[in-house]
Amino acid sequence: MKIADIQKLMNEMSLEEKVGQMVQIPANMLTDGGLITGPTDSIEMNEETVSLVGSILGKTGAADLRKIQNDFMEKHPHHIPLLLMHDVINGLETIFPIPLAQGCTFSPELVEAASRASAKEAAAAGVHVTFSPMLDLVRDARWGRVMESTGEDPWLNGELGRAMVRGYQGDNDLLKEGNIAGCVKHFAGYGAPEGGRDYDNVELSERTFREDYLPAYQAAVEEGCVMVMTSFNSLNRIPSSGNQWLMRKILREEMGFDGVLISDYSAVDEMINHGIAEDSRAAAKLAILAGVDIDMVSNAYVKYLAELVRQGEVEERLIDEAVFRILKLKNDLGLFENPYKDGSVEKEAALFCCEEHRSLARKFAAASFVLIKNDEILPLQKEATETIAFIGPFVDNKELYGSWSFPQKPDNTVTIMAGAKQKKAEMLYAPGCYIQDRGKCNRYGQKQEYDDAEEARILAEAIDLAKKADKLVLCLGEPRDYTGEGGSKASIKLPENQFQLLKTLQQINPNIVTVLFSGRPLEVQEITELSKAVLMVWMPGTEGGNAVADILFGDAVPEGRLSMSLPRSVGQLPIYYNKFRTGRPNGPGNAVGFINGYIDEYTTPLYPFGYGLTYTDFTYSEVTLSKKEMTKDDRILASVQVTNAGGCTATETVQLYMQDVKGSVIRPIRSLKGAKKITLAPEETGEVTFEITEEMLRFYDINMNFVSEPGLFNVFIGHDSDTQNMAEFLLV
Ligand code: BGC
Repeated sequence: MKIADIQKLMNEMSLEEKVGQMVQIPANMLTDGGLITGPTDSIEMNEETVSLVGSILGKTGAADLRKIQNDFMEKHPHHIPLLLMHDVINGLETIFPIPLAQGCTFSPELVEAASRASAKEAAAAGVHVTFSPMLDLVRDARWGRVMESTGEDPWLNGELGRAMVRGYQGDNDLLKEGNIAGCVKHFAGYGAPEGGRDYDNVELSERTFREDYLPAYQAAVEEGCVMVMTSFNSLNRIPSSGNQWLMRKILREEMGFDGVLISDYSAVDEMINHGIAEDSRAAAKLAILAGVDIDMVSNAYVKYLAELVRQGEVEERLIDEAVFRILKLKNDLGLFENPYKDGSVEKEAALFCCEEHRSLARKFAAASFVLIKNDEILPLQKEATETIAFIGPFVDNKELYGSWSFPQKPDNTVTIMAGAKQKKAEMLYAPGCYIQDRGKCNRYGQKQEYDDAEEARILAEAIDLAKKADKLVLCLGEPRDYTGEGGSKASIKLPENQFQLLKTLQQINPNIVTVLFSGRPLEVQEITELSKAVLMVWMPGTEGGNAVADILFGDAVPEGRLSMSLPRSVGQLPIYYNKFRTGRPNGPGNAVGFINGYIDEYTTPLYPFGYGLTYTDFTYSEVTLSKKEMTKDDRILASVQVTNAGGCTATETVQLYMQDVKGSVIRPIRSLKGAKKITLAPEETGEVTFEITEEMLRFYDINMNFVSEPGLFNVFIGHDSDTQNMAEFLLV
């Protein structure tokens, strides 16, 4: 369809029909065959309003979606196709590692490849739009949704967000097969809720917001992402879905976003709870004035938008702008000509969990695991001379995916047990304990049933194996439903019963490798003390078992790096490497007492952002700079020689951090500005070079201008955010 035809179609549409395009409902409001069920509990609609909606969410499957689309279009007065949206977060049928783990790969290439595979599977399943990438910067592991973010660093989140957009949208020609639309979320600042409590308010200075939180969303928009989702939270006391400054000034005007803006689920009506709208009608007005194009599942637009226009409170022009953007997106996806897009049962059969996607998932998962400790116990031996017992509730667990994997297909999962058996036919296994803590709830408020006799039996079985085996692999962690939306926790420890299992077994056999599953950074201090090796594997996805076995038995070599700092204790949260300097810094050589920090805890994390071991050692030369002075239109090359000083080929992620020594406002201790991977054989040396430009030195100065300030800069290149390998230059 030509742009002029969209305009023509709009001219033929009634106000109610136009408003319909701006309403999204859950797919289950359209039954099989597209019959209309009428009102549900959450959203009050009738047969007519349902028949006019512009989009649905939450359903996949080519056959079902084709039928829904078909029946819906037949009844629609202008036969306008629905946009079919779904949360394809870390895969559809082939589940890749959760985004937090993806962050640990520091690899835009792998992230793009996995997003591409996810897009192809989703497109085959009839999906047009995915609610991803989620690019909320996170600094507080109590928040359950840290698992959906790529971590605590603005630069890394931006690079990986771009990679996701490229993966979903290909070359941004949405007509092409396998391309689906991306939707950046949650705009904005959703990752900084007070106390890590989901949906809580966010208070950020404009400077911190712009410098740390905005860049990743902006990167995805620059990459061409066609949709943006508002966030549930308020930012500096204004809920996002009614925040004109945020949506019209920052997003549309400054960031140049001209795509479709959708609210989060019922977020428009939630402005009533926030206490800034007296009712749904007022909420609808706030949202349309802020420029929200689609109301996801609330009563506001469907019930009140037309009335607001008719009563002269909202200009019809605002409706027309929104509807134009929505119809244009449908047209860009080619839906007027082919409303099913790539949805096809044959394509599903060819793509779902295909060999190519599985092998990518295996490689990707292995690259995301972070080895935080290894006292010469890993890799394990495949030979029968070494007896290994696999113990713990994650050994035979199929739920190795994160909270956004719908539909759940546990039978696709390769368990740790299945993966390990491929390496070593003889393995001992016992679950050891229940997965969930006694008496504690998951994020749905459910508690695990405990049978005391069974608990004692499985513990005794584990103790027995611990006596027999040379080494123990303990597969422990937080179950998948302890993180995700609504999954905030005040304790980030391992479930107590699992920790007790570790303690008990360690008394019997100290040769313990702990494989730790989680959707968030956990408190791992005691776990590392009780284990000879600790491998953090997050939620590794469909091929998790194979990937874990590859790393444990040395068929793959660890290369993951922490995308969030690991705290020593929950009291340190929020914790992040790029914090601001204080007047009484806490550091080596400084006086004790009356300095920044705690009297009962260090200020440093247990393991810093960027940290991760492998099966070899890398050494670094000093940082060399191509010059010591730089003008604003100049550049400097910063290089290091990296040597593999150990016994196996491995990949090092070389990280570049910069520090502005003095600014007109306080600058971070250091900021990540680049990362490059280099694979080296034993004794091999390679050079890694980064280009430093003036653009990389900019920040919001005392007058809120985004500029660089002349002066001294420190350049750190090394293994992680703690590196002291440094050189300096002057910006003149
Ligand atoms: C979440 C979003 C998600 C949406 C649709 C909301 O509850 O916050 O991230 O995309 O639901 O499922």
